[in-house]
Amino acid sequence: MNRVGLFGGTFDPPHIGHRLILQAAAATKFFDKIIVVPAAVPPRKSIINVSMSSYRYEMTNIMVDNYDFDTLVTVSDIELRRKDKSYTIDTIREIKRESCNETEVYLICGSDILYEIETWYKPNELLSETGLFVARRPAIGQTEQEDKANEIRSGYRTDIRFFDAPLIDVSSSVIRDMFKGSFSGLSEYIDPEIETWINTNHIYDSDFDMKCLSEESMTILAGYEIKLREYLSSYRLIHSVNTMRMCVSLAVTNGHPPFKCAVAGLLHDCAKYKHGCNGIQHSYDGSEIVSTEFGIKDEEILDAVKFHTTSRARAGMTEKIVFVADKIEPSRKFHRIEELRELSYSDLDVGYRECLKDIIVSLELKGLRAHRDTYEAYEEMKSK
Ligand SMILES: [Fe+2]
Ligand SMILES: [Fe+2]
Repeated sequence: MNRVGLFGGTFDPPHIGHRLILQAAAATKFFDKIIVVPAAVPPRKSIINVSMSSYRYEMTNIMVDNYDFDTLVTVSDIELRRKDKSYTIDTIREIKRESCNETEVYLICGSDILYEIETWYKPNELLSETGLFVARRPAIGQTEQEDKANEIRSGYRTDIRFFDAPLIDVSSSVIRDMFKGSFSGLSEYIDPEIETWINTNHIYDSDFDMKCLSEESMTILAGYEIKLREYLSSYRLIHSVNTMRMCVSLAVTNGHPPFKCAVAGLLHDCAKYKHGCNGIQHSYDGSEIVSTEFGIKDEEILDAVKFHTTSRARAGMTEKIVFVADKIEPSRKFHRIEELRELSYSDLDVGYRECLKDIIVSLELKGLRAHRDTYEAYEEMKSK
């Protein structure tokens, strides 16, 4: 029998407390394999208060890659690929199925889970499928933890084992607040590589928080994000989610309804890796995929995807926003980027015109010509 440790969580963001539990669990040598699983839409949490899953998955990967766990620890997107509501019991069963039931699974967790797990989805089934590998928490009395563990052991015939882990009193929500500027001393609680990555992509920047969208809209976007995983690399996914958030921010600044911009921004590059599809063609093919494979028939969204590379004369507001957001999303770096961002926020049309000019100039410097649609759009904006 293989022993697999499952370490799940929202990881929004992963912090030193998570990492220390992981390192301590790995050091026990109890497991043949440890799988870290970022939760899709965590049960009991509102989707509006959770960062997009691609971000949480990427940050979790950074946490694991930074430590020399060798092949013992891997990160899995098993819950992020699931289209229905995601429960731990389903994940455990899927892991067992993949190994032809040759596997014993233990949930790696803090001792507070002893007091919560009976309120989880289908606790009877869950506790018969998995053991618990519990980090002792010094704040709770040892005998109290043991008593609670014994109660669960006898009630559910569950194997519960304790291990020692240094515990840090920090929560992800406090860290998110720190990024919003209300605390200092972040580096005590979060790995520097994750901190840098969060800052690069403005993950917890309130200018990009999407709070203007309803729970329903966010659920739709999260569903598209799951499907988009089948089409894009994680690098391109992060760019797409960044573009989506930039679209929302620009739409709000300009008093334009944000939802369609968000959908087009998220999906604009979906054809980027389609076989033989590069250059401008990925925009046209992308629009086709959004229509046929994502089932979106809204012309405003389809056109915004179709013209995100070239734009065109008489582009509507949604098209302009998606076009600009793609060029200036937070992780983009090129020589005029700060200037283009400032211009786009103070006057979208000016930012849009300058983005068009930038494309034309940079192609001409290489002895190439931009697409006719781009020249026409630029001529139109110049004469305004
Ligand atoms: Fe593109
Ligand atoms: Fe793009």
